[in-house]
Amino acid sequence: MAYTKIISIDYEVAPNIVTNDDLTKILDTSDEWITTRTGIKQRRVISGDMTSSDLGINAAKKAIKRANFDVDKIDLIIAASSAPEDIYPSVACIIQKAIKADNAAAFDLRAACSGFIYSLNCARAFIKAGIYKNILIVAADATTKYTDWSERSTCVLFGDGAGCAIVCADDKESDDIIGVDLMSDGNCGDYITLKIQGVNSPLVDEIKTKEKPFIQMKGKDVYKYVMTTIPQKLEELLDKLNLKVDDIDYFVPHQSNLRMIDALAQRLNIEQSKVISNIEHYGNMSAASIPCAIREAIDKGQMKLPATIAISAFGAGMTSANAIIRLNEKI
Ligand SMILES: CC(C)(COP(=O)(O)OP(=O)(O)OC[C@H]1O[C@@H](n2cnc3c(N)ncnc32)[C@H](O)[C@@H]1OP(=O)(O)O)[C@@H](O)C(=O)NCCC(=O)NCCS
Repeated sequence: MAYTKIISIDYEVAPNIVTNDDLTKILDTSDEWITTRTGIKQRRVISGDMTSSDLGINAAKKAIKRANFDVDKIDLIIAASSAPEDIYPSVACIIQKAIKADNAAAFDLRAACSGFIYSLNCARAFIKAGIYKNILIVAADATTKYTDWSERSTCVLFGDGAGCAIVCADDKESDDIIGVDLMSDGNCGDYITLKIQGVNSPLVDEIKTKEKPFIQMKGKDVYKYVMTTIPQKLEELLDKLNLKVDDIDYFVPHQSNLRMIDALAQRLNIEQSKVISNIEHYGNMSAASIPCAIREAIDKGQMKLPATIAISAFGAGMTSANAIIRLNEKI
């Protein structure tokens, strides 16, 4: 059976910076409120004709270049993209075309902000089953296109970016994707929604004006959901792998709210120096947030490799996911 090797991680963020002070020009809010409740100081926002796929393409090109990887060897592209510009073609196929990965199959995976870890688990399963060998995962979303900029409790939270990882089959007897646990609870589906509405045929119904698709969120319910699922499930995963919290060198949770990140670390007894967070600069970049936080922490020297890392994510669905991964020096 093959083993999993993560050979590259990279990211791209949208070019425009929107600060909390900028938001006060269009909203009844303040830097103080946003900073205290979320830890966010600024976010990256897409503009013009740029799309989430463009962010994904740039992140993919960087990850491929970093590993000096032969594009022709990529046999699968998974795009963890939950709010794409178009339903089809898929973001994965758009990226495939742009990077000329002509030998790859490509599909999108929708698990909202948990999408990167869901994709890692998919990659792991395909590699273990011997189906694919070199898998490009791209988490790309331009969520700010779907936020209601007059709704202060949601629009302050989000930012646009893409994160990428290349996962390959390896015969060395150890896995970089050590263990993954995925959860979903459709009963909590109304906590975060983004509705796109098709219209019925005019032959059977009157045409109704479509509402603009915007993210709606029950912030307090999301908060509770995260606190009641992530710590317990991560502890169970560590147990299953015969690991202890102390064996974890770094904890990289989904970057959605600094208060949540701190509360999770506290609940899990993970010391502050091991917790990686960059939400202050980017806001919640959906599934891109974990690969982006990892790459940035490595580049800044905050994360020393090799390291064993716990990553945790949660998002619309509701979905949530924990994984323990190993990253080597050459990433
Ligand atoms: C969104 C979140 C920051 C709101 O914080 P909260 O403490 O729950 O705040 P509330 O929604 O109870 O609002 C408290 C007050 O602040 C106000 N408020 C909301 N957003 C505001 C803003 N940007 N600026 C100023 N005031 C704001 C509310 O209107 C409310 O006022 P009221 O008491 O007069 O009604 C918080 O619930 C949260 O982060 N939840 C998790 C969301 C998340 O991570 N989602 C993504 C998951 S992938």
